[in-house]
Amino acid sequence: MQLLVKNIDVLAGIENTGLRRKMGKEMKTLTSVKNAYLTADGGKITGYGKMEDLPANADLAQAIIDAKGGIVLPAFCDSHTHIVYAGSREGEFVDKINGLSYEEIAKRGGGILNSAELLHNTSEDSLFDSAFARLKQMLASGIGSVEIKSGYGLNTQDEIKMLRVIKRLKAASPMTIKSTFLGAHAVPKEYKGRQSEYVDLICKEMIPAVAKENLADFIDVFCDVGFFTPEETAKMLEAGAAYGLRPKIHANELAASGGIQIGVAHKALSVDHLEFTGEAEIAALLSSQTMPTLLPGAAFFLEMNYPPARKMIDSGLGVALATDYNPGSSPSGNMKFVLSLACIKMKMSPQEAINAATLNGAYAMGLEKTQGSITVGKRADLFVSKPVPSLEFLPYAYGSDLTAKTILGGEVVFENKN
Ligand code: NIG
Ligand code: FE
Repeated sequence: MQLLVKNIDVLAGIENTGLRRKMGKEMKTLTSVKNAYLTADGGKITGYGKMEDLPANADLAQAIIDAKGGIVLPAFCDSHTHIVYAGSREGEFVDKINGLSYEEIAKRGGGILNSAELLHNTSEDSLFDSAFARLKQMLASGIGSVEIKSGYGLNTQDEIKMLRVIKRLKAASPMTIKSTFLGAHAVPKEYKGRQSEYVDLICKEMIPAVAKENLADFIDVFCDVGFFTPEETAKMLEAGAAYGLRPKIHANELAASGGIQIGVAHKALSVDHLEFTGEAEIAALLSSQTMPTLLPGAAFFLEMNYPPARKMIDSGLGVALATDYNPGSSPSGNMKFVLSLACIKMKMSPQEAINAATLNGAYAMGLEKTQGSITVGKRADLFVSKPVPSLEFLPYAYGSDLTAKTILGGEVVFENKN
């Protein structure tokens, strides 16, 4: 189908150099056209330019969308979520208000183990329905591509159950979805005191079972104090690599755990969280193809120190931003709020934050060739804002609902009625 989007106040995120990710100073640049149009055909971007140069036949498109002075960006690419989960954990939210830390809650058998218990007792259909509803919320904040992890199963059967739900979501949603096997999210209570046996179970039983059904694109490990050690992480990543699963790991959220270096050594596509990042970690990342991915929603919710984004970017690194949508540390899939946090709390410029949530997020899911920028030939996945005074207004007006439409593959898949 042919699509024309006209009267765009600013069309931003244009990338024509074939750049796969933006790093260091490049992150500041968000190429844009003022007073623009964009055309698409067969789900892909075919052209764009200034309204005054609109081709004479463009108005013949089957679908014409008047952006009415809104901003158009590439749809956001959310490269780290845990949206398949059962129930919710607001009880722990109150425990945190009363002074308990995330680690203390986990030690008492709460946290991830609480979600594992709930998930064990929830059917695949019900998990699908709740995750699908979360995807719809995410669409409303302009997200077009999503990575979803397992990790609340913690036994072979329940991990497979989660990954089958993700497979069904891939088929049912207009969003582009990547799935990640995260059996090593926590040690289940049956294995308390026998952590190495659980690591063996992951390597010898879970990974082969997941690979047999072709259920995962990536492998993840929560490499941090109180969870899995760098040595255990290395073992599991090697087992995953034998089945072609590239790592995207949780690292350095709770301490300088060595996770970043382990991820880099295993050619991780991304290392995520990174609240504890120093010179050694930055040096390791600079010599790698690994995308550091920051999740400021989790730092906000758990009241942790934010990752040193400014220092990382000023050292020449690129960073991605993701929501980490999950029941324990970031119960929200609102990418626009993540942009605001990145600007307010990590001193990223609005342009840097948008690059981090689009092209760099796409890179962190291996989708940068087809998503993440306004490029002829890429998918017409677009975020269209309500009329706003400027691009900077989007992260500035934190918490406000500014999505007008989300367009995926050239079709309107969300339209704001508010
Ligand atoms: O990314 N850090 C580990 N995993 C999640 C939290 C999961 C949970 O608490 O349910 C995170 O923050
Ligand atoms: Fe996470």
